[in-house]
Amino acid sequence: MSLPKRSRVLGWGASVPDLIVTNDDLSEVVETSDAWIQKRTGIKERRYVDHADGSVVMGAKAAADAIEMAGLEPSDVDAIICCTLSPDIDFPGNASLLHDRLGISPRIAFDVRNQCSGFLYALATADQFVRTGGARHVLVVGSEVHSTGLDFNGARGRDVTVLFGDGAGATVVGPSPDDEHGLLSFKLHAEGAYADKLAVFGPSGRDKPRIKPERMPPEDPYFYPTMEGRFVFKHAVEGMTSVIRAVVDEAGFQVSDIDMVLPHQANLRINQFVALQLELEERQVSNNIERYGNTTAATLPLLLTETAAAGRVSRGDLVCFAAFGAGFTWGAALYRW
Ligand code: COA
Repeated sequence: MSLPKRSRVLGWGASVPDLIVTNDDLSEVVETSDAWIQKRTGIKERRYVDHADGSVVMGAKAAADAIEMAGLEPSDVDAIICCTLSPDIDFPGNASLLHDRLGISPRIAFDVRNQCSGFLYALATADQFVRTGGARHVLVVGSEVHSTGLDFNGARGRDVTVLFGDGAGATVVGPSPDDEHGLLSFKLHAEGAYADKLAVFGPSGRDKPRIKPERMPPEDPYFYPTMEGRFVFKHAVEGMTSVIRAVVDEAGFQVSDIDMVLPHQANLRINQFVALQLELEERQVSNNIERYGNTTAATLPLLLTETAAAGRVSRGDLVCFAAFGAGFTWGAALYRW
């Protein structure tokens, strides 16, 4: 069997909860305002799950659409990679739960824990499987439920709480029938020295016992995300700008050749700064943060699904995915549509 030179996204899908939480809704429980959130982040609303549904249910819906669009049967999926920081249960990972829910039996199933860059890391991993023959069809699912783990206590944690929402997206990655279309190159980075700049510290395997009755929400913020916002912001702009330049350069193109950038959606202002530095016009950058907030590993497949549905990408277009997040981890992928 000859191995494909490139992998390609054969199908995609997304699923978001029905419940829309506007900034005004949030202002009723958190000390914030619609004006503050919109001015600083561009976010107008986000979705929250009904608590009966977790990231596996949402991910399964997105995955089913992606498999159908790829023209495949569920049994054609050889590998599942789930990216999430909000798995349904502590272990086993979402990939195991999802494969049971979808009723398929891939040979390979595992989770990637890389927060906002999770989907990019998973896409790059899927690409390796496909090109080396380790798997032919890889289902990559990003699914997040943030709403059950945010700090809704007045002013504490509000900088983080207003940013995040729930959602899922999925892609099926498989062999490209030709050498021109599909994933051209990717670049991934990590800087663990900044791990504590954006993190959830509890529960911790370093604590004995791991769960301490005296360390419980809502009084103790131990289980809520904490972030040095300005520090993260600065590094996100620098990281995404330079990695987009690098991935384009490596593939032998110029930034001006890019038809569409699909950037992670953490803050609209981050993406505007990146676009400014790269001299990209508004039509060359796709954003949907105003409706979903930051959905972490679900962001890129959700954005991909919506951007394609809106007809904003055409065959032959040069598309650049980019993401930055906790870890810090970041990266970019260049893709010929
Ligand atoms: N509503 C109202 N006021 C808020 C608020 C909220 N949700 N969150 C913070 N504030 C207040 C602060 O308390 C501070 O008040 P003070 O001046 O009286 O001390 C003021 O607003 C400014 O806070 P600051 O944190 O400096 O604001 P900022 O302009 O840096 O914006 C973020 C905060 C979080 C929006 C911004 O730093 C950011 O987006 N960072 C990166 C986020 C990110 O990318 N995260 C995920 C990476 S994947």
